[in-house]
Amino acid sequence: MKISVIGAGNVGATLAMRIVESGIGDVVLVDVVEGLANGKALDISDAAPIMGHEKSISGTTDYKEIEDSDVVVITAGFPRKPGMSREDLISKNIPIMDTIVKNVKSFCKDAIIIVVTNPLDVISHYIYKSGSFPKEKVIGMAGTLDASRFSNLIAEELSVPRRDVECYVLGSHGDTMVPVVSKSSVNGEPLRNKMNEEAIQRLTERTKKRGAEIVANLKMGSACYSPSAGVLEILRAISNDSGNILCVSTLLEGEYGISGCFLGVPAHIGKAGILEIVQLELEEGESKALKLSAEKTKHSLRSVLQ
Ligand code: NAI
Ligand code: 2OP
Repeated sequence: MKISVIGAGNVGATLAMRIVESGIGDVVLVDVVEGLANGKALDISDAAPIMGHEKSISGTTDYKEIEDSDVVVITAGFPRKPGMSREDLISKNIPIMDTIVKNVKSFCKDAIIIVVTNPLDVISHYIYKSGSFPKEKVIGMAGTLDASRFSNLIAEELSVPRRDVECYVLGSHGDTMVPVVSKSSVNGEPLRNKMNEEAIQRLTERTKKRGAEIVANLKMGSACYSPSAGVLEILRAISNDSGNILCVSTLLEGEYGISGCFLGVPAHIGKAGILEIVQLELEEGESKALKLSAEKTKHSLRSVLQ
């Protein structure tokens, strides 16, 4: 695959490295800052003999280089500072998306677009709408990250191997995200059989605030290692046409009783993008929380789409 990564900052550069080193594809890294993408690409490329791969990576300021990409990953834009919400980024990041959408339409209009820039669900919807892209080709990355965070915390708490934990995190990538406790399991056993309610509450809250916890520690910038891994999981499903079920942000049109906004839900992912949304049977409280998350996302969206 030819994969263009827009934005050579923390997430973009880390992701570019993960892609070539895992052998998934060749990378074009694009950034507006002169020399940034090229410098990072040269550095990542120099590690190839040691890492033992033959994939190519180049860096540029010229969008023409994204021509004929199979996938475009959008990581360009401002990250949060301590105390900021993801919504605070809307006015700064929307104009950047206009430039990117225009260039994707000019140079690789059939590419699958994976969105990372925050606020994730609003930006994904804006890209889908302003570019008139098919809905199955615009995939917001957040649920794979949030589910990985939740799994990691559960595995640490119970001292079990991480591979034994399975969980879903639905809703928007923000304070109203919904870790789905009723569908979380450890070694096939329901989470509630393994952990008391106090611990479950503590870990769901920590999952929701994990991004902010990292921002508060870093003081400058936000998470990049786990988010780039979250994108890689989606790229693997596309590359292998696996049909694997992953939590992604996509346009809902009646699923879960919600319409008219991008929101995190499980979906089968393959080489055509989002193949089919999976409708989990949620408990009443979870379903209510998901609808609340949709309302909050729609509220932010209104200011952007007017
Ligand atoms: P960063 O500041 O390290 O990198 C962003 C890069 O975008 C900068 O190098 C900047 O020059 C570049 N850029 C700005 N305008 C551009 C344009 N028109 N074309 C190409 N490049 C452009 O930020 P970082 O940490 O990489 O985060 C990027 C975005 O991803 C932020 O909005 C952040 O909030 C979001 N994010 C989302 C996550 C998720 O789970 N969805 C997780 C982590 C970050
Ligand atoms: C995160 O959750 C910043 O959205 C990013 O870490």
